[in-house]
Amino acid sequence: MSHTIAVYGATGHTGRHVTTELRRRGHHPLLLGRDLTTLHTLDDHPRHATVDDPDSLDRALHGADAVINTAGPFATTAGPLIDAARRAGIPYLDVAAEIEANLDTFTHHTDATTLIIPAMAFYGGLGDLLATTALDGDTHADTIHIAYGLTSWHPTPGTLASGTVSTQRRGGRRLRYTNGALHHHDDAPTTVTWPFPPPLGPREVLAEFTMADVVTLPTHLRAHHITTYMTTTAATDLANAGPRRDTPETFTVDVLIRTGTTQRRITATGQDIYAISAPLVVEATDRVLTGRTRVTHGVASAGTAFDAPDFLRSLHTHLTIHHHKPISGTPTAPFPASDRGTAPLTPSTRN
Ligand SMILES: NC(=O)c1ccc[n+]([C@@H]2O[C@H](COP(=O)([O-])OP(=O)(O)OC[C@H]3O[C@@H](n4cnc5c(N)ncnc54)[C@H](OP(=O)(O)O)[C@@H]3O)[C@@H](O)[C@H]2O)c1
Repeated sequence: MSHTIAVYGATGHTGRHVTTELRRRGHHPLLLGRDLTTLHTLDDHPRHATVDDPDSLDRALHGADAVINTAGPFATTAGPLIDAARRAGIPYLDVAAEIEANLDTFTHHTDATTLIIPAMAFYGGLGDLLATTALDGDTHADTIHIAYGLTSWHPTPGTLASGTVSTQRRGGRRLRYTNGALHHHDDAPTTVTWPFPPPLGPREVLAEFTMADVVTLPTHLRAHHITTYMTTTAATDLANAGPRRDTPETFTVDVLIRTGTTQRRITATGQDIYAISAPLVVEATDRVLTGRTRVTHGVASAGTAFDAPDFLRSLHTHLTIHHHKPISGTPTAPFPASDRGTAPLTPSTRN
């Protein structure tokens, strides 16, 4: 079924991927943004709207069935866009990977009568779908580890700007999800070797490279510790990057969940963390608009809103998913940070 779907931030790298994916699926994208000149190079009938002008947002959303916000920093854009979506009575989804902005969304819009799904993208969305799938109906775990095996990371200007805003909002401190809550800390980063499955294989990662998954997962899964990791090479790329993105990375997202001595594991591989965010958020929008959700209003993460295994299966042309058999036994290697003493036990078995 074809829908009219507004894309705010349509001039951006991710917005362009989202627009392309909407058209590929037969939807009618409404291209929205603050830069009408650039929008006109992309579409004959774009709509100008700025986040400091609610009337312009209301006009821009007229006739839309849903809105996808790809304009970051989301600290600036998410609130006004969600308010406008709520006034219009349409669902709102975004690709925000800004922990503080994601927290704001979950905190301030629980009373929404429409459905609001933040972080419906590579960071925040995919890890949630993977962890939910691996848990297979369980909602409790001792520790959840999400290791991001990126071969490189050449960020967009939007990513760099979002990182700057988030860092400022947390006063330059770091974040850790431990004992069931988010905490600020000033500990120096540590590195460990993460045993990614082939073809990536073991790689050095920065531990406690805290991503939006620490916001999305706890909204429906109870875990004492949630730790995310990033390949050191990708973290270094990010830290050193200028505003250029020439080469798409390949990614391996390795999710390891420990409950007692049982470890469950699921791995996703693919290419281009920005491009994959388009089918993630467009598939989510499709499901929202066709009633394939588990909730109908308020704020929900991907794992709450959708049938996670079915959602992942639907992305089979974009993602390869490896389900590993659960393993029980004694950990064999030292492990960092919040889950010392627990590591993947043996090489995984692919189903
Ligand atoms: N969760 C994830 O995995 C994931 C995946 C992809 C992207 N993202 C996030 O999505 C955001 C956009 O990424 P990108 O790759 O598209 O970056 P980008 O290519 O630099 O584009 C940024 C977009 O945001 C718009 N924008 C920025 N500030 C705005 C404001 N105050 N009002 C209106 N529009 C504004 C820009 O509009 P102009 O053209 O007018 O400047 C542009 O359309 C970033 O925060 C990025 O981290 C997250």
